Amino acid sequence: MDDKLILAVETSCDETSAAVIGAGPRILSNIVASQVDWHKKFGGVVPEIASRKHLELIEPVIDEAISEAGIEYKDLDAVAATRGPGLVGALLVGFAAAKGLAYSLGLPFIGVNHVAGHIYANFLINNEIASPFICLTVSGGHTDLLYFDRPGSYRFLGRTRDDAAGEAFDKIARFLELGYPGGPEIEKMAKTGDANAIELPRALVGEEGYDFSFSGLKTAVINYVHNASQRGEDVNKNDLAASFQQAVVDSLTARLEKAVMDFKAESILLAGGVAANQVLRNKVELIAKSADLEYYVPPLNLCTDNAAMIGAAAYYRYADADFDNLDIGVKADLSM
Ligand code: KG4
Ligand code: ZN
Repeated sequence: MDDKLILAVETSCDETSAAVIGAGPRILSNIVASQVDWHKKFGGVVPEIASRKHLELIEPVIDEAISEAGIEYKDLDAVAATRGPGLVGALLVGFAAAKGLAYSLGLPFIGVNHVAGHIYANFLINNEIASPFICLTVSGGHTDLLYFDRPGSYRFLGRTRDDAAGEAFDKIARFLELGYPGGPEIEKMAKTGDANAIELPRALVGEEGYDFSFSGLKTAVINYVHNASQRGEDVNKNDLAASFQQAVVDSLTARLEKAVMDFKAESILLAGGVAANQVLRNKVELIAKSADLEYYVPPLNLCTDNAAMIGAAAYYRYADADFDNLDIGVKADLSM
């Protein structure tokens, strides 16, 4: 594909983001306006606030992506936006803006699956990832283990039966009053804690299949704190954060290790916001090394929500001329 330029927009949750992707795929610009400060005081994303902030930010963020890429709107070859999954009011803002641009510029439009975007972020760091590959996608809304014969052709091995891994981080952080988003706060606290201090469950590990479950772990943490307070004992939050983080990482990587043993693969990919976690990154790298597989994980800024990853997924759709009609709508529960 010659130097085709794709404008991508992402507004599925609390980041307003726009990016320009060139051939490769490679990033020409990737602007992320985080709304986290507006949501922080509520301990989580407030959908109504997210939609309003997206409305305020979407035009300037897209303009900045175009100018930082050093191009003009007329240079674009396609426009893409996140179609789902996500908050419906938030998705609508970016989707409508992108469709409006595609219409007025007479360009093809691509509605991208957000979870696919997380996975394709890996192709921004290496355009030639060896297939087949196993991908562990861990975000605030998803925890999926997938097997790809090649990019675009995959099947689900496992998924979470209850909470997503990031959701568990966020809920436990809120319970421990550590702030939002929970993942980075727990990781920070855990640095000075003992991961072996508190015994916590690793659900489904050793059982059939590749599914995950985090609700029992969440309950175990809550019970631990309640029991301690009933006994009048202080809880060491650093130890608890470290033990919780280790339990999540162990649960995730046990299933990944099983998949690596059961399926023939060339590479392991890690994706999604929780892939920013250094303990998880280190463990997955170790698994890949000992199985003699290539290992890919995006840099931190491409793990959490951003439009460049949406542009990367759109890039492969563009190459296949896989476009959407402009009458397509957003879908809050869009599956892969
Ligand atoms: O992929 P993402 O940005 O948004 C969704 O698509 O959900 O993921 C956000 C999630 C949040 O739950 C956040 O707490 C978690 O990723 N997260 C982390 C870390 N950084 C972000 N979890 C653990 N450790 C981190 N360093
Ligand atoms: Zn995401």
